[in-house]
Amino acid sequence: MTESALLFENLSFYYEATLALEEVSLSVAPLEFIGIFGPNGGGKTTLLKLILGLLKPQRGKVRLFGEAPEKMRHHIGYVPQTIYFDRSFPISVLDVVMMGSLKHLSWFGTYPKGTRKRALDVLERVELSHKAKAPFGTLSGGELQRALIARAILDNPRLLVLDEPTANIDAEGEKIVYQLLLELNKTMGILMVTHDLQTIVNKVERLLCVQRRVTSLKSTEICEHFALGLYHTPLSTKPHFIGLPS
Ligand SMILES: Nc1ncnc2c1ncn2[C@@H]1O[C@H](COP(=O)(O)OP(=O)(O)O)[C@@H](O)[C@H]1O
Ligand SMILES: [Mg+2]
Repeated sequence: MTESALLFENLSFYYEATLALEEVSLSVAPLEFIGIFGPNGGGKTTLLKLILGLLKPQRGKVRLFGEAPEKMRHHIGYVPQTIYFDRSFPISVLDVVMMGSLKHLSWFGTYPKGTRKRALDVLERVELSHKAKAPFGTLSGGELQRALIARAILDNPRLLVLDEPTANIDAEGEKIVYQLLLELNKTMGILMVTHDLQTIVNKVERLLCVQRRVTSLKSTEICEHFALGLYHTPLSTKPHFIGLPS
């Protein structure tokens, strides 16, 4: 029996009176590459926070590699949606990547042996070796995302979770990020929130539409006018969003 990487069973989540996710049941296999989309306020970030064990459902359950998320979240590499930082802050790209191992930092503030070597290795995987010593603030949008991906994969996660990694980068940078994700997908599952349905529909096996309820669609099930017509610009807010058949 193959254990699912991720399992939601009849899960509902409320923020006080707001029902953010309702009766969600889904299962994700270990090496799936899944795109997550839906309107603003649809519950995408809530879904990710439940996977990371940062929120607890009031009803139903989540299992990450068969266990409670807080027990297994060290197997997740997480690339947050936006990071705010001072571009003039003097920190190198290599330092930022090594921060992916902060959870292993000793009481004395030292990284475990080999962290630097692993950081250099992941920088090579994302093709940024030549930028290791560069100040983080000098990277382009695409390079920045690749550095954050390098940081997220430092500990060789089983699942990589990304919140809109291609927002704010140019087409060329986006292409490189997608190529990288497809390469990484050989060894880890990928869950990626994106508004760019048109691009992702050809890359992933399955899409989850999150609109309080979650609908799972094979990418072949997304009909063309739907992908090209309605969603080729960033997903609009609720009044313009047309729901998928459930
Ligand atoms: N911390 C919070 N407190 C109260 N309501 C929240 C909070 N975070 C999100 N919500 C509400 O939960 C719903 C889902 O939000 P969210 O998961 O952020 O959606 P998305 O990421 O798809 O935009 C929205 O109605 C939002 O207003
Ligand atoms: Mg969000």
